[in-house]
Amino acid sequence: MKLYKAKNYQEMSRKAAHVIAAQVILKPDCVLGLATGSSPVGTYQQLIQWYKDGDLDFSKVKTANLDEYKGLTKENDQSYYYFMYQNLFKDINIDMANTNIPDGTNPDSQAEAARYDQVIERLGGVDLQLLGLGRNGHIGFNEPGEAFAKGTHCIDLQPSTIDANKRFFPSIDDVPKQAYTMGIRTIMSARRILLIASGEDKAKALYDSLHGPITPHVPGSILQLHSDVTVVADEAALSLF
Ligand code: GLP
Repeated sequence: MKLYKAKNYQEMSRKAAHVIAAQVILKPDCVLGLATGSSPVGTYQQLIQWYKDGDLDFSKVKTANLDEYKGLTKENDQSYYYFMYQNLFKDINIDMANTNIPDGTNPDSQAEAARYDQVIERLGGVDLQLLGLGRNGHIGFNEPGEAFAKGTHCIDLQPSTIDANKRFFPSIDDVPKQAYTMGIRTIMSARRILLIASGEDKAKALYDSLHGPITPHVPGSILQLHSDVTVVADEAALSLF
């Protein structure tokens, strides 16, 4: 595991963007696993800037996002589809046909999970998976539990996650209670993983993920078993190290 320490969110974003840019340059038709949340916004802004400067070309890149709220349409401004379009896709030269996100509007959880796993399989797997970290140690929307879930599945969001994400919705009652997420097997199948974390409220989750016992109670701890993980975190997130 490689750990890069950044001073703050801005520096974390720049360093993380360097890792993704290197992947795109080395393999222009790579498959990027992408994440949502506030952690990757700065990384995406930096990638957009390098695209605008003519230094990056996304025309052959394919993407597979980690997760999506169940029940939200693409047009809903809280859907992860909308987030990805607004924060990255609309400002780079990616072919939208090459972007993949679980379909939140599919009411059939088993069918959607199977479909999304097939999508990733057909892509040939993920070359570089970007991950944020939940305050409770979740990755994607794999919440703490008694066992590691394997493939894509529908999950009941934990109260702490609903509480953490309520800032994006008019009220806590508007936060969806379920989501589709890549499973732990899917995430661990990525050839490389890039984990980013910023802020003191991530410090315990980050410490437990990287140094604690490997347990489904801290889903991020499974990353200790992956052979190619790069962590970029700021000083606040690393304050317990
Ligand atoms: C969300 C997402 C995760 C994300 C995490 C952290 O619920 N499903 O993929 O990594 O929580 O979010 P943030 O970056 O906003 O702290």
